Amino acid sequence: MQTTQRLLVLPDEAIGTINPFLHGHFAEHLGELVYPGVYVGPDSPIPNTGGIRNDVVDALKPLGVPVLRWPGGCFADTYHWRDGIGPVSERPLRVNTHWGMAPEPNSFGTHEFMAFCRALGAEPYFAANLGSAPPSETRDWIEYCNFAGPSALADERRANGSDAPFGVKFWGIGNENWGCGGNMSPQHYAEEFARYRSSVFNYPGIPVQAVACGPDGPDWTWTRGFLEQLGSRSRLGLAQALAGHYYCGTAGTATEYTAEQWLELLAKGAAMEGIITGHRAIMDEFDPERRIKMIYDEWGTWHPVETGKPTGGLYQQNTVRDACVAALTLDIFHTHADKVFMANIAQLVNVLQALLLVEEDKCIKTPTFHVFDLYKPHQGGLSVRTESFSETISDGGASAAHCRRCYRDKQPFALKAVQGSASVKNGVLCVTAVNSHPTEPVELDLEVSGARFGAAEVVTLSAEDMHAHNTFDQPDTVKPSAPVQITAQNGRLRVPMPAGGVIRALAGL
Ligand code: AHR
Repeated sequence: MQTTQRLLVLPDEAIGTINPFLHGHFAEHLGELVYPGVYVGPDSPIPNTGGIRNDVVDALKPLGVPVLRWPGGCFADTYHWRDGIGPVSERPLRVNTHWGMAPEPNSFGTHEFMAFCRALGAEPYFAANLGSAPPSETRDWIEYCNFAGPSALADERRANGSDAPFGVKFWGIGNENWGCGGNMSPQHYAEEFARYRSSVFNYPGIPVQAVACGPDGPDWTWTRGFLEQLGSRSRLGLAQALAGHYYCGTAGTATEYTAEQWLELLAKGAAMEGIITGHRAIMDEFDPERRIKMIYDEWGTWHPVETGKPTGGLYQQNTVRDACVAALTLDIFHTHADKVFMANIAQLVNVLQALLLVEEDKCIKTPTFHVFDLYKPHQGGLSVRTESFSETISDGGASAAHCRRCYRDKQPFALKAVQGSASVKNGVLCVTAVNSHPTEPVELDLEVSGARFGAAEVVTLSAEDMHAHNTFDQPDTVKPSAPVQITAQNGRLRVPMPAGGVIRALAGL
């Protein structure tokens, strides 16, 4: 029998504005992402503008990519930006040592990345090399990008085709410096961060936000150790943000899994809630005025590489299960809109939980793409609290230990049947929610505290088969439904939610 699950929206309990950057993206030089996922070169038979694929830009432009992080990832701490400027034919061929020893021709460099950002309307977010380059390299890159006046570096940018500065505001100072970016302790990284930060300057009109490398998942010792060390000489003001990473991993494979494995993965995805709660509590101890923003600049699922693809390329399919992980995670970010400022799913094309998959001249949208599209009306809205009165359907199963580790003070872990988020913008309430159960449809009983629903426009993303995904032959197996008008009963909305379905309801308040 179909159950009814109640979700209460509390419009008077505002959390904070949902920064559009929470729906941000990440493009690393890894596998088939940059080449040929974004850049095919001007001479390619694949339609392109200045070497950048038209189909990828056409797919992403209406979605809106608010912010795009580049060039890595682990790649960032081996990248030397000068390799990627000047005439393409003269750029050095390097080896992508982190990712399968693949050739790195450097034909997609700073100017090409900025052209891609401009085509998409995305804010650029650069990850600078702290792991294997001196601070002067970051200093010079920033001057090359941001200085409008005369200088050898700014003149070089002009000679390379860009008279106006690029205006890059977000600079990550290293990446995963607890791992691939130098295997440092948090204390050692804090000292390195402070040193590099002293070479990061605000050129006129372009104030820079320096993003420090944050923790891996529930690594509380990194957050505490970094903040303690940086703060020891009143240097907390050097960091404008701290960026954590959390990959919920896999259960089964990308397209083959049981109902239990479905729940296991969603439970691991939902553990993001405890991870954020734990780290922000530590940040509040050191920075009670909340000057340092929290960022999650890598998150998502990580499945075994698809058969036939190089292991170093991290190519995977993504199904309606990944769509649920994306939706749960975005809902969690919305409920922390007062602290979490930016998030970047990994990654944009052909790598990990991709939005697009491309092959030769074909480009398809994954179920994860459709979640970002569905969730767009939240951007810029005021996030308000919701309360789920839904039953608990998983404690993390086989991965319970993994999930519990994600909570401080041994708080219980629970994946609810239905959970979601809500925001208000220009008098319109946007509610999104996930039915986390892979085989049980539910009826959502949606209520607004202190108000009555009249009607709502509802869009659903779901599929009959819990393994459903889009392929180059069948690109529209998973796509959002047409909008349906639902009239309220006694001021409450009854919304059918298919098994493993994501819904968005828009209603006037
Ligand atoms: O996104 C793939 C890799 O995952 C990134 O390069 C690294 O930062 C993380 O470990």
